This record gives sequence, structure tokens and C-alpha cells, in this order.
Amino acid sequence: MDLLKHKNKTLTFDNFEVDKLLKNYSTPLYVYSENQILTQYFDFMDTANHFEINSPLVCFALKSNPNPALLKSLFKAGAGADIVSGGELKRALDCGCSADKIVFSGVGKTEEEIKDGIKAGVYSFNVESFEELEMINELAGKAKKKARFALRINPKVNAKTHKYISTGYKTHKFGLLTDDVAKFLKRKSKLKNVELVGLSVHIGSQLTDFKATKKAIQELFELAILAPKTLEFVDVGGGLGVNYKREDDSTYLGEYMEVVSSVVNSYAKKHNFNPRVVFEPGRFISASSGILLTKVIRTKKSAEHNFAIVDGGMNDFVRTSLYQAYHHIVPVKVKAGKKKYFDIVGPICETADSFASNYQIQNLNAGDHIAVLDVGAYGHSMSSTYNMRTRPTEVVIKKDHSLEEFNY
Ligand code: LLP
Repeated sequence: MDLLKHKNKTLTFDNFEVDKLLKNYSTPLYVYSENQILTQYFDFMDTANHFEINSPLVCFALKSNPNPALLKSLFKAGAGADIVSGGELKRALDCGCSADKIVFSGVGKTEEEIKDGIKAGVYSFNVESFEELEMINELAGKAKKKARFALRINPKVNAKTHKYISTGYKTHKFGLLTDDVAKFLKRKSKLKNVELVGLSVHIGSQLTDFKATKKAIQELFELAILAPKTLEFVDVGGGLGVNYKREDDSTYLGEYMEVVSSVVNSYAKKHNFNPRVVFEPGRFISASSGILLTKVIRTKKSAEHNFAIVDGGMNDFVRTSLYQAYHHIVPVKVKAGKKKYFDIVGPICETADSFASNYQIQNLNAGDHIAVLDVGAYGHSMSSTYNMRTRPTEVVIKKDHSLEEFNY
């Protein structure tokens, strides 16, 4: 599939002329491709199968993109869900995810959320503290059910990524320290209404260097073999990064899966331990399936910069402002002429409200449309109504090229 291409000088996304959308929808507008999100899911599954991972379960991280049309499509294709709130639990179930494919992550699950998870019968509560485990045990007892759980470990590794999205170091709020997990596994548990079925880890997001990932997964397996009863699964979390710079088509998927499978294989050989592997990817599955269309309101020259002020802002898409993330930007209509450098900024009253600075692109004028790429992950899901703006419309290009619109 040609995901993004200029044909007759007009941008196409999943072979759909973006221009046509602009006739019917106003900007800023999120556009998603169902074909692309499925491509990413199948690519992930095929690679896991290629490396002979034992019954891989891909639990898509809803926080990256909870759009109902995309979720329905992923769940129909066999995906599970990684959720972190009651809202995400409801969304996953409403969109057809079976409860036995849902892992419930999160450091601050409330009593209400735990009750809902128990009632639904989720595959696993990924537990982040012994206090949380006690609460799950008590609530499961009241519901006369046995809740399945995994302990999320904190492997004390320093993942090379933006500090806001690194989660596996000892000073972070996430997971349980490995010594405490080892002690727990060696002791006979008094908790009667919960069943230990796995261990999990997640060390951060947008990972492209897998040294810390390997260490963390090794740590996970080292603890897993201490369990009194053979564990059903290990959950290696999410975090696989994507190539936002788009210099080429390469991905980090092969390298990542090789790292996972090397640890899996060594424990299968040495310890005859070959559990199911659960994955929780968000970004890898959803990032490339979304673009954000925005219109230049006006241009403005200042002492040192050419500003292109667009109608999308940091409330619509915050990654470039919050993490100084790079996102590729392309024009919807290609114009002839020399390229120039622009600061592409939004209308919000903060200097951080910027999509790119000193960005080389064709000359931009008021009324021109541009597309910010790879916004399918942590784009609309992190949008807000800051400055009393409405959250942008989302439109999904379905497999048959019909359109489905969402406003909420
Ligand atoms: N599992 C857990 C327990 C997580 O905390 C996360 C992400 C994931 C899975 C999915 O990670 P992914 O495969 O998408 O990297 N807003 C930030 C990313 C925050 C990630 C939070 N946790 C961003 O825009 O970069």
C-alpha cells in the first residue's frame, strides 16, 4: 500500500485524496487509515510468529489511540487490549475485545475500576504495589471471584528515551522492586482470592536502543522461574519506537523481536520455561495510521523567523510541545518554487505551542494546508480543550474507503 504519496501534486493518504476530505471537513482534522493500523498489527504478529514466540498476545495500548472504529478493527483481527482506566475498560469491551484478552495496567487503579475489572473477568491485573494486590484480593473475595494477576517489576534500568516517558528506573513510581518480588515469589501467599499467572515489565516508550529492554526482560525471566507454580505468561510491555524522521522505510521491529526471542529461547533451553508472551505495543501499531491536517491562518515575519501560524494547536496535538518531538510535515498541495524555512506554530498563547521550528518546506501562504505525520499515537488521545477550543474531529478511512466521523 502507498500510505503517503503526492499524486498529481496532491497528497494522498492510503490512496485517498486528502483534498476531498477538506471539502467536507474543517481543520484541524485527524485522519486515520484502517488499512494502515491493521498492517502494523499483522506485521507485529507475523514477526512474533517468525521468531517462534509462544502464543503471542498483542494487547494494543488503548492510551495511544482509543478511536472506536480502529479498535473494532484491531479486535476483530484478534488483538487484545492494554488498559489503564475504567474508561478504557469500557471502550475495549464496547468495541468487541474479549475480557480474556485484556491486561489492566496502571499504578493508580481505583476501587471502582478494580471492581469493574473483576466483574468483566480481565485476563490479568498487572499489579504495581502490594497494597493494590491486597485491595484486589479483598474486592475479588466480596465478588466471590478469583482475580488473575501479574506483578509488574521495576527492573532498575535506564531506558534511553525522553525522561518523561522512561518508566523502569528505581526512582520511578512504576512497578515493584525486584528484591521484593523475589521475596513474594518465595513465600507462600495468604491471599486466597487472587491467582498469580504472570510477571510484567514496561521500561518506557519510543525505545530504539534495546540494551535496557534486554536487561529488563532477562530480569523478568530470572524472577519468573522462581514462581512456585509455572507462570502462564510473561508480559514484556510496550515501548517499541517508530521512525518519526522518515529518512527511510526501516523499522525497529525485527531488532526488537530478536532481543525478546533471544531471552525467551535461552530460558526455554536452560530452564525448560517457555511461557506465552504478552506484548503491549501502542505507538508501533497506531502512530503511522494517523495524520493531522491543519490550515495556515496567516504568515508573519519577525526579526529572525518566518512564522506560519496554523489553525491546529498544542491542545490538538501536544507531542511537539511537550516532548520536543520531531514530526514530519508535508504540504497537501505541492507548489513549484524554492523551499524556505518556517516556524510552524499554533494559535495558543504559549511559546511551546509549536509543531516545528526552522522547518524547510515549500513557501507557505494563508489558506494552504499541511499534514503533520505519524500522529496516530498519542495525538487525539492527548488532546484537550485548552483555550476553550473544541477537540478536533477524527475521520477514519475504512478498508472499503468509506468514511466514519467522530466528534467527542
Ligand atoms: N504498557 C504500559 C504499561 C505503558 O505505560 C505504555 C505507555 C504502553 C504499554 C504503550 O507504550 P508504547 O508502545 O506506545 O510506547 N505520551 C507519550 C507516551 C507515553 C507512554 C505511556 N505508557 C508520547 O506521546 O510519546
